[in-house]
Amino acid sequence: TRHYAITLLPGDGIGPEVVSVAKKVLQRAGSVEGIHFDFQEMPMGGAALDLTGVPLPKETLEAARSSDAVLLGAIGGYKWDKNEKHVKPETGLLQLREGLKVFANLRPASVLPQLVDASTLKKEVAEGVDLMVVRELTGGIYFGKPRGFSTNDNGEEIGFNTEVYASHEIDRIARVAFETARKRRGKLCSVDKANVLEASMLWRRRVTEIALEYPDIELTHMYVDNASMQLVRFPKQFDVIVTNNIFGDILSDEASMITGSIGMLPSASLGENGPGLFEPIHGSAPDIAGQDKANPLATILSAAMLLKYGLGEQDAAERIETAVLNTLDRGFRTGDIYSDGNIMVGCTEMGEQVLRAVDSEAVAV
Ligand code: NAD
Ligand code: IPM
Ligand code: MN
Repeated sequence: TRHYAITLLPGDGIGPEVVSVAKKVLQRAGSVEGIHFDFQEMPMGGAALDLTGVPLPKETLEAARSSDAVLLGAIGGYKWDKNEKHVKPETGLLQLREGLKVFANLRPASVLPQLVDASTLKKEVAEGVDLMVVRELTGGIYFGKPRGFSTNDNGEEIGFNTEVYASHEIDRIARVAFETARKRRGKLCSVDKANVLEASMLWRRRVTEIALEYPDIELTHMYVDNASMQLVRFPKQFDVIVTNNIFGDILSDEASMITGSIGMLPSASLGENGPGLFEPIHGSAPDIAGQDKANPLATILSAAMLLKYGLGEQDAAERIETAVLNTLDRGFRTGDIYSDGNIMVGCTEMGEQVLRAVDSEAVAV
């Protein structure tokens, strides 16, 4: 058997609910495929703030760094919303991404045939959509300096942030995106605001330069306002989208809705070396937390990405993906993806159904 050390960071809100389900799925898929996981659960986000006073304790970052992969639920909640920046749950998440140097965030959005009816878009628009947002994760306006609060010449309070990109940060995310496109349909759309922002002008120049290394990939450029419109007009035009930190955050939430729900989208955050970070793209959903209503599939699919991109365990990853599709084939739906005629289940029951399918490869529909 192969052994891997996995750090689990359940976090806040629905985070612990979806992570406990995904952990069981990992365990089960592992045992079928001859993989043993050593799980270590560590506090993160609001939970860590309440326990230790900081959103990312150094023990948590150390555990994450020394493991083979990290699975995170979600962080944040009303309780900490008014906290000062250095003691916000969200700050802990940014410190974790920075600490693990995971600059490349892959966010796949595909419309599963089983969920076409769950999309808010018309069937003919949603059907067959299969795209990947490659989001730069450790730079841009999230990290740029100067930033902070101050007063202007009129003595009025101001808040300010800076969008900064260095060439090497653009070059490396561009290469990840070109490589990703090469393994898919060979199309890359770089999304920026190069008509206005200097950081985007450099972005477009560098991406165009890196494209010379990838003559087989068809590169296009699009302004972010147009891209957000094109995503709902004709999403099938996209294969891989590469964009900066903040545009990628926003466009991936928009793309999730094409697929039926934000509760479906997983992500993988990767660096040059060291463990990857795997998390659903959604947040802690405080409005449904503690009610066993959350869709765990985004986290289960993040566990599949952990196996594929983090550990190179392709077979176990595919076993989980197949189990998810089989569970949807059998009609099970959480509230966010429910349509007439489906079987409505909660987070725990959805997990149990996926486990059944993991065991038996496929349960009869
Ligand atoms: P959110 O993604 O938590 O929720 C948005 C909406 O989607 C809510 O109505 C929620 O119920 C629903 N939703 C989200 N995930 C779902 C799931 N798995 N199943 C069913 N429904 C789901 O975004 P928000 O409300 O803007 O943010 C809430 C908190 O989460 C904030 O504190 C925010 O900072 C934090 N957040 C954290 C992460 C993260 O940990 N990576 C990501 C986004 C937001
Ligand atoms: C996400 C979230 C985070 C982000 C927040 C919680 C810091 O929205 O993972 O998409 O903006 O990256
Ligand atoms: Mn987001």
